[in-house]
Amino acid sequence: MTGSHVAINRDYWNGMAADWVAAGERNWRREAPVWGIWGLPEAELGLLAEGLDGKAAIELGCGTGYVSGWMTRRGARVTGVDVSSEQLATARRLARDHGADIAFLEANAEATGLPAGSYDFAISEYGAAIWCDPDLWLREAWRLLRPGGGLVFLGNHPLALMTAPNSGAPSEAILHRPYRGLGRLDWTGVEIDPGGVEFTRTTAGWIAVFSEIGFDIEGYLELYAPDTAEGTRFSVPADWAKRYPCEQVWKLRKRA
Ligand SMILES: C[S@@+](CC[C@H](N)C(=O)[O-])C[C@H]1O[C@@H](n2cnc3c(N)ncnc32)[C@H](O)[C@@H]1O
Repeated sequence: MTGSHVAINRDYWNGMAADWVAAGERNWRREAPVWGIWGLPEAELGLLAEGLDGKAAIELGCGTGYVSGWMTRRGARVTGVDVSSEQLATARRLARDHGADIAFLEANAEATGLPAGSYDFAISEYGAAIWCDPDLWLREAWRLLRPGGGLVFLGNHPLALMTAPNSGAPSEAILHRPYRGLGRLDWTGVEIDPGGVEFTRTTAGWIAVFSEIGFDIEGYLELYAPDTAEGTRFSVPADWAKRYPCEQVWKLRKRA
């Protein structure tokens, strides 16, 4: 393991895995993919690459593996990478239950050890996208992709992180931390619902790291809660997320 955040996050996820089984089961059963906190439809967001049939795809930080399952159903040969043996145990069981042939690998998505240039498409929904150091996992994703291969990832919008109180309470319409320098977020010691160590960048910071590594930007989405959303999910109140974007999606392509 490189870097203490990897061990902290692995232990956190091994401890949390039982709480994610039901959501994993629900998502594996879905015919049509939905994304993020509010379950926004694939038909609106278009996160999965078109023409996955016969292609090699990898999910970085696959958790219970439902995104891998959705790609398998579209005909892709899929590898799911996760650092948590407990999350992978759920993923393997659900893949078996659904008759999906997926190569699951227990590894750090920042350094998988998989062969370079062997994937057409890589994806992460709240996996490597938030739990890994962007300088490391984006470089690893770039290495794993063939020239011209696509990378799509979804994670928290910087606004949701800037407006999250230090206590771990839900986001508010108040700035609680500086935008300048937004990067590593350690939630291990917060009062409410302690978590792991997460990573982000400012928007300019993301664009700089993509360009430095060798990704072109094909799309960028800011996601809001739908008008019908209610309550608070994962520390994001629906009323807040109807006014401010709580999540973002980057669609990238490895420069050929
Ligand atoms: C929230 S799950 C993501 C899966 C799914 N899309 C979801 O939203 O439930 C986050 C996953 O990232 C994994 N993860 C955290 N750090 C990782 C790392 N360094 N390498 C690979 N996986 C990692 C965790 O073990 C966990 O299973």
